[in-house]
Amino acid sequence: MVNYKELGLVNTREMFKKAVAGGYAIPAFNFNTMEQMQAIVQAAVETKSPVIMQVSKGARNYANGTILRYMAQGAVEYAKELGCEKPEIVLHLDHGDSFEICKECIDNGFSSVMIDGSSLPYEENIALTKKVVEYAHKFDVTVEAELGVLAGVEDEVSSAVSHYTKPEEVVDFSTRSGCDSLAISIGTSHGAYKFTPEQCTRDPKTGKLVPPPLAFDILHEIEKQLPGFPIVLHGSSSVPQDEVDTINAFGGKLPDAVGIPEEQLREASKSAVCKINIDSDSRLAMTAAIRKHLAENPSHFDPRQYLKPARENMKKMYIHKIVEVLGSDNKL
Ligand code: G3H
Ligand code: 13P
Ligand code: ZN
Repeated sequence: MVNYKELGLVNTREMFKKAVAGGYAIPAFNFNTMEQMQAIVQAAVETKSPVIMQVSKGARNYANGTILRYMAQGAVEYAKELGCEKPEIVLHLDHGDSFEICKECIDNGFSSVMIDGSSLPYEENIALTKKVVEYAHKFDVTVEAELGVLAGVEDEVSSAVSHYTKPEEVVDFSTRSGCDSLAISIGTSHGAYKFTPEQCTRDPKTGKLVPPPLAFDILHEIEKQLPGFPIVLHGSSSVPQDEVDTINAFGGKLPDAVGIPEEQLREASKSAVCKINIDSDSRLAMTAAIRKHLAENPSHFDPRQYLKPARENMKKMYIHKIVEVLGSDNKL
């Protein structure tokens, strides 16, 4: 049993309060590998940004939960070594789907957990979230819950259709469950194919897909119901076209990949949305750099040769999100 405070990690409470008041959002980047962790820490330190490093069930299966926890502990020490005196790093469980997995993470150094009961009937979602909150709060661990369903398919997180969050339910849900933040559904979804071509229009000049706008009316209604309450957006990768083009130019096949336009995420960051989840953009940045490097250097076989540009490309993307989209720079 280890508490996150012993590891130099922080929970989300103060971080979210400041972000809501300051009109910016904290980046929540998923990580599965050492290179992602290094790039996240370098970007956060260089921009003086708080950061949430999040671990999915898929990441735990891939890399091992214990290893990821030690990597987060290493991230704190690495940030200090890079010159950040007081890093604000959260280790967060992404899409926890049971009380048991949340407990295991809380007992092993996570400072924040998500209990995703969004696919359950309303009352069961409340009951499960409340059970996790009661345990987590004993250790000052913060809890994210989800109301409404995101569409999209990923390894461990999938739903064929989305159901927007109902604003009339948010006060009852957050009060009775006791959650510290609430993930909502307003049109974002997981993965690199957030909308079908049929849901989009085509830009006549570029031929590229233009997605439908997020449901800002629902977001604003939720803010009205729960003034100042921390709101979370999942599925918020932008799927940068240049990375998709690089992947496709060097042997990849990602036809019609489309994400959330950055202007909309910028707008959301200024509202009560104080945590924005980004995973797919990191995958794209890494894959684009590796494909390009290997195509241009066919004799290379040392992983360091292609993982170094991959790490650089992810770091560039993380810095861009922090400074140009979420506005969480210079907040330490
Ligand atoms: O929300 C889902 C995240 O992108 C994690 O995806 O389950 O494939 O690790 P994953
Ligand atoms: P993206 O697939 O848009 O990066 O979303 C990630 C996410 O929501 C992780 O929980
Ligand atoms: Zn998610």
